[in-house]
Amino acid sequence: MEEEQTPLVGDIAEEAPAAENAESAGESAGKKHGGFTGKIGFVLAAAGSAVGLGNLWRFPYLAAQYGGGMFLLCYIVLAVTFGFCLLVLEIAIGRKTGKGVIGAFTALNKKFKWFGFLLLVVPVIIVPYYCVIGGWVIKYMWAFLVGDTASFSAQTLSEGFFSSFTGGTWEPIVFFLIFAVATVFVVVFGVQKGIERVSKVLMPMLAILAVFLAVYACCQPGALEGLRKLFVPDFSDFTYETLLAALGQLFYSMSLAMGIMITYGSYMKKEASIQSSARQISICDTLFAIFAAMIVIPSIFAVTGGGAAAEDAMGESGPSLMFVVLPQMFNGMFGGRVIGCIFFVLVLFAALTSSISLVEAIVAVLRENLHMKRWVACLCVFGVILVLGILSSLGFGPLSFIHIKDKTILDIFDYAANSILMPIAAIITCVIAGFFADTESLVDEIGIKRKGYRMYYKIMIRYIAPVCMAAILISGFLSPL
Ligand code: PHE
Repeated sequence: MEEEQTPLVGDIAEEAPAAENAESAGESAGKKHGGFTGKIGFVLAAAGSAVGLGNLWRFPYLAAQYGGGMFLLCYIVLAVTFGFCLLVLEIAIGRKTGKGVIGAFTALNKKFKWFGFLLLVVPVIIVPYYCVIGGWVIKYMWAFLVGDTASFSAQTLSEGFFSSFTGGTWEPIVFFLIFAVATVFVVVFGVQKGIERVSKVLMPMLAILAVFLAVYACCQPGALEGLRKLFVPDFSDFTYETLLAALGQLFYSMSLAMGIMITYGSYMKKEASIQSSARQISICDTLFAIFAAMIVIPSIFAVTGGGAAAEDAMGESGPSLMFVVLPQMFNGMFGGRVIGCIFFVLVLFAALTSSISLVEAIVAVLRENLHMKRWVACLCVFGVILVLGILSSLGFGPLSFIHIKDKTILDIFDYAANSILMPIAAIITCVIAGFFADTESLVDEIGIKRKGYRMYYKIMIRYIAPVCMAAILISGFLSPL
């Protein structure tokens, strides 16, 4: 079983320069660089990158902020249309060309090498603040481990999140550094077989724990109201901003629009079915997000006592939501300290596998295209993480005067990457694949045979997806005005 799977991000990158020299891009995918030997390996690796803080931390707070059911509905509709379509397209581009982002776009059309570089800006913005949140997770895991959770139970959503950090401003930075160093450390040495082995054990554990906690959360008094809020859309909640937020979340959660799925696709075997792999990845990713929301949103109603207080808490929720509501739930439950600790360990693991794949994406390009040594590339990435990460972290403390509306520095990075850059990148990907590349052969690569379906797919890539995404993007901007 173990030999069957080699979804090791580090190994992939070690082999990456070889991919550059491939003579025939079309034939090379999957074979030459000892990529994934089986479909399970590919699906596991891609799902490992997809399932992370986006599902457990970001989805629930966005759902809370944008009215629950309406957000979920938008998300699911976008996931089965654009999300699936783009996921399949990115994997196909990777497998067809057999190269990393920059090589892949050059192979599609020489004129678009620059776009590969542009795609890279997205992970560069995301990794630093991802590490900040990763640091928060370590802090909470530690607090549950040593039993220092009293301060969490007194916290309310409206209170400053950081007031609860006993160490004030600097403690979050220390935890951020631990997470960042751990991420970069793994990438420097390449990811050893350990990560995959561990993830095979821990990811199912995370799934079991998520289901258990969701059931527990839903059984609390008042939780039913929260469930109703989450699953019954209220059409008056609909705004274009909701749609834009859902679209951004979709790209983020599925690791789309930044070249990761292209890179992974280049290591996929020719025999494996792209469509069914993509289906499994997106179902897994969406289920994790929904379960996380089923834990957090009913808990808001239970913790606040429901009614207007809960509605207010939903409205003003933000990045700190998971860190405020869940500890209160854990504190109140039997064995909560142990469960809380295990929960944050698993969140940490999910976050780490995702952040490793983000850093690896940048490092791989620095090595391939700027011919840097692995450790030099890692050092450069670490430098960027350090500067932007510390800024994001201080945005909750001494730098809190820097904000746009009520968005802190971390929110601004998050918004810029997810709501602006990713939709733009996704639109450009569709336009390049639909008009400036051999679209027929991409559709062949996906394995779509039925004539009508081929037609649908091409129309989707060429017209529907880019036009709708552009419309969402523009109206999302205009609506606050
Ligand atoms: N998809 C990851 C998550 O949900 C985040 C991520 C984005 C990871 C892009 C890798 C690349 O947390």
